Amino acid sequence: MIVTKAVIVAAGLGTRMLPASKVIPKEILPVIDTPAIQVVVEEAVASGIRDIYVVVAPGRTIVLDHFKPAIELEAMLEERGKLEILESVRRINTIAQFTAVEQAKPLGLGHAVLQARDVIGAEPFALMLPDDIFDCPRPCLAQLIEAAEANDAPVVALLQVARSEIPKYGIVETKPSRSRLYELTGMVEKPAIDKAPSDLAIMGRYVLTPEIFDLLATAKPGAGGEIQLTDALMALARRRKLYGYRFEGVRYDFGDKVGFIAAQVGFGLKRPDLADRLRAYLQTLLAS
Ligand code: UTP
Repeated sequence: MIVTKAVIVAAGLGTRMLPASKVIPKEILPVIDTPAIQVVVEEAVASGIRDIYVVVAPGRTIVLDHFKPAIELEAMLEERGKLEILESVRRINTIAQFTAVEQAKPLGLGHAVLQARDVIGAEPFALMLPDDIFDCPRPCLAQLIEAAEANDAPVVALLQVARSEIPKYGIVETKPSRSRLYELTGMVEKPAIDKAPSDLAIMGRYVLTPEIFDLLATAKPGAGGEIQLTDALMALARRRKLYGYRFEGVRYDFGDKVGFIAAQVGFGLKRPDLADRLRAYLQTLLAS
């Protein structure tokens, strides 16, 4: 399989980040100076994706406005000789091909994915959840795509989590493996610690095949009337081989307050223009 399309779901309510997400979708909140959605799009592009479909809530196309030319701003930056900033602003306009897909109501992640059925058609595609932000030696999605293409099968991102974190995630059951690639035999959404089949949690990057749409379309709504992606993935694993890939790198839970702060600090300490000042500040803070 060859993966060239990505779906980014950005139509959730973002209740954990209220009131910041009341007017501004949480996907626009920045990692330092770059909206989370841009960080995710750059990961997609660096993984070979060219066509990006963004699932948005009605009227919330602001998420996509970020990738449109800002004529007046660009003219002003040129006039004032701020050419480096101008270059970085212009680059955003040409980074990829975008299409908005509307989710009329936030009926769950599975329902959001299902809205992309017509635009994806019969091709495999990447699914990206922008509240998971990655800092990896090679883009997380690129690692997954390589595994999916090599095995001609769908692949989900896996992260080993602390036992206390297990009830927050979808946890997989796997065949034994000596590499980063695991064949999945089952999964449970948010299990109790003592009922969990492993400590490997599904994170927000997937390479999926189009049969997931049929499974989502026939899935019964679960808790809160939401259509769960995990249920459809479980059905997919019964039909064909489904893999998990324990990616190399760090992941931040950007939809969570502490994760949001951790991302600012983590990425800040890696920025040559900011690291020294930030480190000095953190040292003073910890010493006091
Ligand atoms: P989350 O459950 O983490 O996001 O969904 P949320 O519902 O927006 O946030 P909280 O939990 O209320 O704080 C994971 C991803 O799926 C998208 C979200 O935008 C997020 O990127 N999503 C979720 C949708 O697009 N539509 C939905 O109906 C639900």
